Amino acid sequence: MNINSPVPVGVMGASGYVGQELLRLLTRHPGAAVVFATAQSAAGETLDGVTLVRVDDAPLARVEIVLSALPHGVSGRYVREARAAGKRAVDLSSDFRLSPEAVYGLTEVTRPRLPAAELVANPGCYPTAALLALLPLAQHGLIDQSREVVIDAASGVTGAGRTPRRELLFGEVAEDFRAYGVGNDHRHLPELKATLAREGGFTGDLVFTPHLLPVKRGILETIHVPLTRVVDQATAEGIYDAVYAAEPCVRVLRGALPSLKDVVYRNRVAIGVALVANVRRPRLTVIAAIDNLVKGAAGQAIQNMNVMLGLPETAGLVC
Ligand SMILES: NC(=O)c1ccc[n+]([C@@H]2O[C@H](COP(=O)([O-])OP(=O)(O)OC[C@H]3O[C@@H](n4cnc5c(N)ncnc54)[C@H](OP(=O)(O)O)[C@@H]3O)[C@@H](O)[C@H]2O)c1
Repeated sequence: MNINSPVPVGVMGASGYVGQELLRLLTRHPGAAVVFATAQSAAGETLDGVTLVRVDDAPLARVEIVLSALPHGVSGRYVREARAAGKRAVDLSSDFRLSPEAVYGLTEVTRPRLPAAELVANPGCYPTAALLALLPLAQHGLIDQSREVVIDAASGVTGAGRTPRRELLFGEVAEDFRAYGVGNDHRHLPELKATLAREGGFTGDLVFTPHLLPVKRGILETIHVPLTRVVDQATAEGIYDAVYAAEPCVRVLRGALPSLKDVVYRNRVAIGVALVANVRRPRLTVIAAIDNLVKGAAGQAIQNMNVMLGLPETAGLVC
């Protein structure tokens, strides 16, 4: 990494929760320099020493790569503009996650495809945790595809973005806990299914239920996995250890289960497993935790950017 010539980077949607996290991390990144950062209603304000400009005024010519934390539906248009100007891009919205135009940026899984990628689609926050938890089991043929995998996931309120909504007021969420999007049609489900099939050969059913947790940041997923055969605790943990031994941003817990404290403000997924007793067919409970704004968004985008640019993968990140 040449710290004398940091890579010029543009951040779109920098006043949002994810964009703020991108700025926080990039302004401390030893190999990157933020050249512009955009906002809509917050244009003109200054964040981390950068004055926010409107996205239509972004000086695209001055950057090498753009990171977009614009809302889905909006992001695609501006990422295409950046691409038309010859710029590489990491899109943090869902606009390219199912598109052949982009490389899917689940770093630990798709790393070899990133250095040549012009456009990377950063995974969703819920899918990042679920996929890193499920893919090792799928790749080992351990998931019984005739039964459903059930994912119960809870996210802190920053997961819903910064636009004010009545149901997200402190008075509504504090000291409460509730499911939402019940019925298995959450917008992250197609991304989860497509990636599990492509990277893990899993084509069975998933049942995904998100919950709103009254904390600022963090996702905890309890994943109920039907198994093709009985495994013991050491074997189950050993599968994760083998897949992730060399991964700086994955922590496999032995004989313990993760909680949000293990991951908040870190670009890390923490995974723990527990055997399920008192059932007739074999089953494993996998618990995965991430910070939705870091490994679930801004941190993983920077991890992907680092690999794209040939920088040390964890530059600017705390895993
Ligand atoms: N929150 C998460 O945990 C999370 C995790 C993974 C991925 N994502 C994805 O990351 C993206 C950003 O999420 P977020 O939670 O940070 O959202 P957010 O807090 O609502 O921020 C959205 C950003 O986009 C700007 N913006 C909104 N509408 C715009 C428009 N029409 N033209 C130009 N700029 C516009 C906003 O500017 P102003 O605020 O100045 O108006 C703000 O900077 C979304 O695509 C989301 O799906 C979010």
